[in-house]
Amino acid sequence: DDPAADPFAIAAQAAADIAEKTGVEHHDIALTLGSGWAKAADLIGETTATIPATEVTGFSKPALEGHVGTLRSVLLPNGKRALIIGARTHYYENHGVRRVVHSVRTAAATGAKVMILTNGAGGIRESWTPGTPVLISDHINLTADSPLEGATFIDLTDLYSQRLRDLARTLEPDLDEGVYAQFRGPHYETPAEVQMAKAIGAHIVGMSTALEAIAARQSGMEILGMSLITNLAAGIQKTPLSHEEVMEAGKNAEATLGALLARIVGAL
Ligand code: 6GU
Repeated sequence: DDPAADPFAIAAQAAADIAEKTGVEHHDIALTLGSGWAKAADLIGETTATIPATEVTGFSKPALEGHVGTLRSVLLPNGKRALIIGARTHYYENHGVRRVVHSVRTAAATGAKVMILTNGAGGIRESWTPGTPVLISDHINLTADSPLEGATFIDLTDLYSQRLRDLARTLEPDLDEGVYAQFRGPHYETPAEVQMAKAIGAHIVGMSTALEAIAARQSGMEILGMSLITNLAAGIQKTPLSHEEVMEAGKNAEATLGALLARIVGAL
């Protein structure tokens, strides 16, 4: 939180903590598992170490139940190593954008070249029933913030890797894709805000991922983004939104999503 501190040095320290506590010096890929995606951790390979995120430099306490605050090192069947981040700091927690992207920078510091970002989100397309997974094709960052500090002008073309989206679709040809709009939250959008998001080209609304993807690009990682549609966005869905509904949809979809993610990770 010290403005004079170097966030990359803190991420390097976090990566050293992970190496020490897991006994694994290098991770090849990293996954942030959002609402509905946690089960993937058990399906992609063999967990060799689980550590509470609070024991790793720079990680904050989880704000929400259902956001499990652990980091896991998983040995994949193909011999690669995955770092599973079950400890997301959301922008709406007001700890600043450095905290939000710390896990992504830590993943890069462990050696990860691929960053898989998942979330639970609201759908704008009416055909997306709760439980539908959607590939993120691009994003619109509505937080008015950035993880980049100072004059760091980086390109965000093909931010959500076309190669990885194609790979996901060879495994699951029916996967839809859409543009993700990150709102600050923690309130859901008004119906008017959802109409605005639709008008400017968004198909999915959520409260994470875009800022993390920018940081992942800055760190040179290839990014795959996936949303679980937990509900339709306000005004598209005729009933009021509730956090319980969102969590319930996540739980119901977990096994399917986990299996899908395991297949994608296995094919990387
Ligand atoms: Cl409708 N909006 C946002 N911002 N996040 C969500 C959501 C909606 N549904 C689940 N997460």
